[in-house]
Amino acid sequence: MGSTTIPVLLVTANVGSIFEDPTEMLKIWTEEFLSTVSKLDPKFIALHCQEVGGKNYELSMRHVEHFVKLLMSSNELRLFDKVRVFLDEDYSSAENFTALGNLYFVHHSLDNILIWDFKDSIFIPVQGKEIHSGNIEAVVTKEKSKFPQDFFPECKWSRKGFMRTRWSLNGTVLDLVNIHLFHDASNFIAMESFPSVYCRNRRRALQHTLQRFHDDAYENAPYFLFGDFNFRTDTDGVVKKLTDGLKTTRVQNNKNNEFMKLQFTTDDSKLVLTVGKKEFNHSDHQAVFLNPTTEWLKSFDKELEAFEDTLTEYPVTFPPSYPFEENICHATSYMQTRCPAWCDRVLMSKTAKELVDKESIVDYGLMGGKTCMGDHKPVYLRMEVKQNSGSIVTENDSVKVTDLKVKKVEDITTPTTVTRYIYIQNIDSPVKIFRETAV
Ligand SMILES: *[C@@H]1O[C@H](CO)[C@@H](O)[C@H](O)[C@H]1NC(C)=O
Ligand SMILES: *[C@@H]1O[C@H](CO)[C@@H](O)[C@H](O)[C@H]1NC(C)=O
Ligand SMILES: *[C@@H]1O[C@H](CO)[C@@H](O)[C@H](O)[C@H]1NC(C)=O
Repeated sequence: MGSTTIPVLLVTANVGSIFEDPTEMLKIWTEEFLSTVSKLDPKFIALHCQEVGGKNYELSMRHVEHFVKLLMSSNELRLFDKVRVFLDEDYSSAENFTALGNLYFVHHSLDNILIWDFKDSIFIPVQGKEIHSGNIEAVVTKEKSKFPQDFFPECKWSRKGFMRTRWSLNGTVLDLVNIHLFHDASNFIAMESFPSVYCRNRRRALQHTLQRFHDDAYENAPYFLFGDFNFRTDTDGVVKKLTDGLKTTRVQNNKNNEFMKLQFTTDDSKLVLTVGKKEFNHSDHQAVFLNPTTEWLKSFDKELEAFEDTLTEYPVTFPPSYPFEENICHATSYMQTRCPAWCDRVLMSKTAKELVDKESIVDYGLMGGKTCMGDHKPVYLRMEVKQNSGSIVTENDSVKVTDLKVKKVEDITTPTTVTRYIYIQNIDSPVKIFRETAV
């Protein structure tokens, strides 16, 4: 091992709620992330964030800048001398805004690291640190897309889509895709059937995305797909399992006779489960849903089954990553709003799994089990990726990475839109920040 593999850490984190309380949460979250990085000791880190800036992104953009500074100026990441950050921040553009953030940190001991230019279909050597934020439409080293408008519930734009980069890590080519799929709005609709209408919507958007990669003009590379898939358990099945033999009462609102919630009680009138549109409350909530008893729940996590032929995943042995309490005093408790679910996942194509060294330990888990990380706990995959085993499949042939053309550094031009450089303190090499503004 050692010189033949690269220790890689992939992390997906829905960070929306840490921007609701940035003064407290940014620091706690970042410290937990960095201490996990130190413990796992990777040489290549990919952090895929969703809901960067939170709900109130208009006000949060300066907190986003602070967040990136906290990471980049940290002691834990000081030896990562090559950095690429892509933050989709232009909230004024409803048709393009995804609130996705892809952050990549490359250790100084790794050389021969290339990133793909999606415009010219050519690899570019990765040197130094670059942050692309603001309107990043013109940045060619990423591909970003929202789902078509008719995929969105009621055709209403929300911050959902994907953002991809392609890397060559000492001769191993892989795509890293951040994705954010649609959520469940009402527990009642979710429990009508399986697959629910929400599940079918997610499936359609994911199928559309995979099809796009398959058909794409940049040839096919093995890919790791990690983000907030919003996968939920089969709510109907879970409720049936939890309420077997119980009495069901429909609770009406006295004022307008509107149906409010379902209550499930024992023969001696003990309340066991309440389900409302946004309430999911078991009498023994934490014990029922938290490790190590979650194995029963995992059997209701079925959304990935529709993708068995294309996608794969390492065994999930951690508790559901969502929804945790956002209160720092209740870091290990689930909120009683939704049935806990494995929304956040690290998935891969079958060809990508072949890049993982089978002799080494693979660690797939939750980050911050005892720390408040917001309503989603980040999910990570730590593995050893083989070097010099990459090839890209073109129309007729498979091209060895060593045969691919690489752009000369002197030919690389910075983006053509307005660029502003910001110097970040406490790090040895200056950072280029491209804050593109829409033209
Ligand atoms: C949105 O994206 C499209 C396609 O990339 C681009 O043509 C358009 O200019 C973008 N709009 C804004 C406001 O950036
Ligand atoms: C990259 O691959 C080459 C060829 O196998 C190897 O000699 C070299 O040590 C690798 N570089 C790093 C930084 O591991
Ligand atoms: C639900 O939550 C409330 C507190 O918010 C609690 O009093 C109630 O007993 C809980 N249990 C059920 C099964 O509804």
